[in-house]
Amino acid sequence: KPIVLSGCQPSGQLTLGNYMGALKQWVSMQDDHDCLYMLVDLHAITVRQEPEALTNACLDGLALYLACGIDPQKSTLFVQSHVPEHAQLSWILNCYTQMGELNRMTQFKDKSAKNVSNINAGLFTYPALMAADILLYQANQVPVGDDQKQHLELSRDIATRMNNLYGDIFTIPDPFIPEFGARIMSLQEPTKKMSKSDDNPNNFIGLLEDPKKLAKKIKRAVTDSDEQARVYFDQAEKPGVSNLLTLLSLATGKPITALVPEYEDKMYGHLKGDVADAVVALLEPIQTRFKVLREDRAYLDSVMKEGAEKASARAATTLKQVYNALGFLPKP
Ligand code: AQP
Repeated sequence: KPIVLSGCQPSGQLTLGNYMGALKQWVSMQDDHDCLYMLVDLHAITVRQEPEALTNACLDGLALYLACGIDPQKSTLFVQSHVPEHAQLSWILNCYTQMGELNRMTQFKDKSAKNVSNINAGLFTYPALMAADILLYQANQVPVGDDQKQHLELSRDIATRMNNLYGDIFTIPDPFIPEFGARIMSLQEPTKKMSKSDDNPNNFIGLLEDPKKLAKKIKRAVTDSDEQARVYFDQAEKPGVSNLLTLLSLATGKPITALVPEYEDKMYGHLKGDVADAVVALLEPIQTRFKVLREDRAYLDSVMKEGAEKASARAATTLKQVYNALGFLPKP
């Protein structure tokens, strides 16, 4: 089976963007792929996190993965910091990654511009840790949203560089980016992506948000000033309306071409009402399952323990190959 690896940062509550761009794909890949899914807490601290909030976001994230349909019998589910090989390989990959390459990463530019008081080295070398995550498991496919495409290309470049120097130590990973839903946009500023750490909570929908509150946010979403208020899909001219249509299509499973005619004589308000209903219908059962799972700490611990053991055994094999290839003296 092809090996699949992906993860989300516990840097806040997972959003509808994380669900549509990542989790939804993860669930669908479990039967015919060998999947490893993680919570990347080492990545999360590239932006300052409050310790208690980080712990809770990690537990919430794990319970959410399960509530969304990740099955620990089928997939390996773990927390990144529980598998020390990620940090170990990441150091090595840092030494094979050029400053110029990291300088070109748009996520670093965006996040450092937003966070001028904490432009730390980890934020800069984030892509080398991401490459370590992927290469440790010899992953073939990495399901990610559009925003991670550049990082994934860098992972491929680093792996190719090391393979050229030392023989085939790494599998070159391919991105798996959904054709549709790879970039869910912010509700109030639909030209930028929906992000869980956005300062304005009206910009995102958290997967655990109260249905009434989230419906209100959707009903207040920015559309546009087209006097005729026509509903059609055009990301450049109508980013807000297009984002709402995307959400409706993904939440109901109906293609956009089938949805648009339904709004021919209707107002934006109708569209927003339907999007709100569809998103609530999608999230309510997830939230119900989440509540039960989140209360069961013993079960969550058992999932994390088993996942870390399985992941560590695989990661250790790759790390050993890399140490040997580099000429590190074997530990007597
Ligand atoms: N808006 C989005 N649309 C589609 N996919 C998205 N992803 C994130 N936002 C969207 C995908 O979710 C996965 C996990 O992302 P992450 O948590 O590792 O980090 P991120 O991409 O930086 O996501 P956020 O929500 O924007 O986090 P913060 O605010 O902490 O930086 C990835 O596959 C990502 O592509």
